[in-house]
Amino acid sequence: MEVFEVDQPEHLLLVNEDEHGGFSGSEAKIEVKNLWRFSDKGVSILQNVSLDIPRGKIIGIIGPSGSGKSTLLRALNRLWEPASGTVFLDGKDITGLDVLQLRRKVGMLFQLPVLFEGTVADNIRYGPQLKGKKLSDQEVYKLLTFADLDSSFFNKHGNELSVGQAQRVALARTLANEPEVLLLDEPTSALDPISTQNIEDLMMKLKSSKGMTIVMVSHSIKQIQRIADVVCVLVGGEIVEVVNSDKLSEAKHPMATRFLQLSS
Ligand SMILES: Nc1ncnc2c1ncn2[C@@H]1O[C@H](COP(=O)(O)OP(=O)(O)OP(=O)(O)O)[C@@H](O)[C@H]1O
Ligand SMILES: [Mg+2]
Repeated sequence: MEVFEVDQPEHLLLVNEDEHGGFSGSEAKIEVKNLWRFSDKGVSILQNVSLDIPRGKIIGIIGPSGSGKSTLLRALNRLWEPASGTVFLDGKDITGLDVLQLRRKVGMLFQLPVLFEGTVADNIRYGPQLKGKKLSDQEVYKLLTFADLDSSFFNKHGNELSVGQAQRVALARTLANEPEVLLLDEPTSALDPISTQNIEDLMMKLKSSKGMTIVMVSHSIKQIQRIADVVCVLVGGEIVEVVNSDKLSEAKHPMATRFLQLSS
């Protein structure tokens, strides 16, 4: 394995806050250790990624297109299988867990929503039904409201929805599984500003009231600054910076500073 050893960038801050009893490395909800991924042609897509994802916080992931953000997210619930000993949930190697249980605990929202056949309500009921639980109409309405959709969506079919509406149904469907971790891949890119704000408010609420751990890929630095506690910058499959989001202006990596300049 020595062949993969690389020096840690000097400016990689260890996110090891805080005087108020907050996150410290050992309290990570998810730990990623020396994670690599290669394409079939042997090109590296992720390069020795190590990251502690703090429990009960929102971590934002930014970086240029093609830098490996979605690939990293997908490793966290085994949509691609990371090597054993590289991704841990609550200290347990995820490759040793039952994959369906893992995906219930670690829910994911994709860049482009995919709904199943059937109505919106069928979609939302799907996950709990697999566990033998039938959500009441009331529970479905509540999840719709959470995801910023009104009750008229209950009986609609996937093909009657806009991308932004389908994204919110997918969010409600994920929340129906009561996940402990939410992986969000540009969740608001197809939403208008009002819906975006409602979804951001929901993320903050899920964090504060349920202690949910949220990992969000976003191309909007402003969004990351609004809601994330910690920001991780991924460039060329490598983590080049991890910094508290209120200290983003102190980031040293050129890509991080460029992102900041372009969005201000
Ligand atoms: N299954 C695969 N096989 C080969 N290459 C892949 C595969 N999946 C992703 N890649 C490559 O890995 C790199 C990272 O892709 P990824 O989708 O993770 O980027 P991203 O940071 O999410 O980009 P974007 O911001 O455009 O969504 C890209 O160069 C992509 O072409
Ligand atoms: Mg992506």
